[in-house]
Amino acid sequence: KKVTIHAPATVANLVCGFDVLGMCIDAPFDVMEVELINTPEVIIKNTDSYHLPTAPHLNAAGAPLLELMLSFNKPIGFKITSNKNIKPGSGLGSSAASAAGAVVAANYLLGNPFSKNDLVRFAMAGEKVATGIKHADNVAPCIYGGVTVIRSIFPLDVINIDAPPLYVTVVHPQIEIKTADARQILRKEVLLKDAIKQWGNIAGLVAGFMKKDVNLIANSLEDVIIEPIRSILIPRFDDIKQACKNAGALGGGIAGSGPSIFMLSETKAIADTVAQVMQHTYTEIGLPHFTY
Ligand code: HSE
Repeated sequence: KKVTIHAPATVANLVCGFDVLGMCIDAPFDVMEVELINTPEVIIKNTDSYHLPTAPHLNAAGAPLLELMLSFNKPIGFKITSNKNIKPGSGLGSSAASAAGAVVAANYLLGNPFSKNDLVRFAMAGEKVATGIKHADNVAPCIYGGVTVIRSIFPLDVINIDAPPLYVTVVHPQIEIKTADARQILRKEVLLKDAIKQWGNIAGLVAGFMKKDVNLIANSLEDVIIEPIRSILIPRFDDIKQACKNAGALGGGIAGSGPSIFMLSETKAIADTVAQVMQHTYTEIGLPHFTY
């Protein structure tokens, strides 16, 4: 028994919500074939060129499957053939797509014995392997779809937010930033005045999504804690952000831990102009890039 699954990219943090907010996007997505086997093992085959580890406990898809197998009371195993389109180190939830795709497919093959919450818990083991920390702000939107809030990791509490349809434009400059490195450079303490601004924005953004109030969404897309530090690693970040807002985007910022930048827009026409602005900036400095 086998199934082919598309595991979509995700944008974690949504600017102000470091480790608590995330959303799922249409493209890019990974394609995975998962097969149920009778031997209690996980076999991984990569058909892309990223040379990711194939030992299951070291692999972002393998580790979650090992967790899932521990919770299933019959001896089962899986064979995964993975073709990644989401580049590792892009900030678009590459490891999360592997982790989420594997457990969603496995659950389907087993007749759906596990809840979405269980699947997020299993998938977090993949993030631990890939980034050194069990964060859920990519795996949760990948599994639930749409926008999610991670109110708590232990115990896991995921809230699906009803957001208005918005267009997401993403530019991925072809440099690699490892999430572990992008976390290492962050300060461990924040000033109370910055914390107040940040949680005001998180509350505003969630309320803006739920009330479908685009002005509130635009005003809340501000990050005074993480972005000032991480944006230094991303060429022309400030210029792109400003130019996209001038072109009519509601706002945006670093996708996950970068280097991709995302922008939210109300219409497809604005989103297309935003893509051109992004492309223009990186073409100007000769930096190869992809837009989605
Ligand atoms: N919240 C995580 C971080 C997401 O920003 O480090 C990583 O994609």
